[in-house]
Amino acid sequence: MVLRPPAPGVVKAQELNDDADWNAFDSEAYVAHNYRDLRPDDEQIIRIVRDYFTDHFRRHPGDPVPGIDVGSGANLYPALTLLPWCSEITLFEYAATNAAWLERQVTGYEPNWDAFWDVLREARPYAGTENPRAALRLAARVKQGNLFSLPEARWGIGTMFFVAESMTTAHEEFQEGVRRFAECLLPGAPFAAAFMEGSEGYAVGDEFFPACSVTGAQVRDTLTPFAEGEVQIHSIGIPGDPLRVGYKGMLVACGRRNSD
Ligand SMILES: C[S@@+](CC[C@H](N)C(=O)[O-])C[C@H]1O[C@@H](n2cnc3c(N)ncnc32)[C@H](O)[C@@H]1O
Repeated sequence: MVLRPPAPGVVKAQELNDDADWNAFDSEAYVAHNYRDLRPDDEQIIRIVRDYFTDHFRRHPGDPVPGIDVGSGANLYPALTLLPWCSEITLFEYAATNAAWLERQVTGYEPNWDAFWDVLREARPYAGTENPRAALRLAARVKQGNLFSLPEARWGIGTMFFVAESMTTAHEEFQEGVRRFAECLLPGAPFAAAFMEGSEGYAVGDEFFPACSVTGAQVRDTLTPFAEGEVQIHSIGIPGDPLRVGYKGMLVACGRRNSD
């Protein structure tokens, strides 16, 4: 069965973050649909983020830093991109279902994530982590919370994948979500954020969740005030089979937090 966005007139004109029932997020259904196998678009994203972080720490070597993945949901690969660079990794998530799923996975994640790690370990600093399961178990701290209440200037590296545009239909909340993500980072911190382009919302199991339709230019404009220099925007498009109906591709933004 293909779940489509509700027909016009059936869907609420606007669904704010608070309106959605995030505790109805079915983590297992989400993984089964999105991450059971490694898709070519996720593979491209992993390579881009891996190479961006590797290049950043080659130019700015230092001790491991505290890292955060905002809105982790039921996805481990953003946290895996953080692994070689972090003293600890906060997996920050709102839904109780996803926080419980993360707690279970970080004790020893399931074999489907091995394909994601295989792409990361093509690069040297990742290859140096011989046992990523044990490393994640040691580094990860699951924290249930609302990204609109994230503390400022706490983390030295960050990721946020498919969250700011996939939690509301309101562009103001998308912009606020991006701002909160950027502001939780310390000056100089590298970040990577992924977005669904042109999303009309998405189903997880039997539940439909809101999204707002963004373009690469909007992502760039929203992140640029918080970044030192240029924000790199990579347009992934839809290689191979679409993930679902109602989106135009994926976008990845990489940059470095400025000091305002
Ligand atoms: C489309 S999922 C993305 C999950 C995951 N990051 C990924 O890459 O697949 C959106 C996520 O945002 C989370 N979320 C929604 N509202 C949030 C909020 N106010 N604060 C933190 N997370 C939130 C949801 O619970 C869900 O896990």
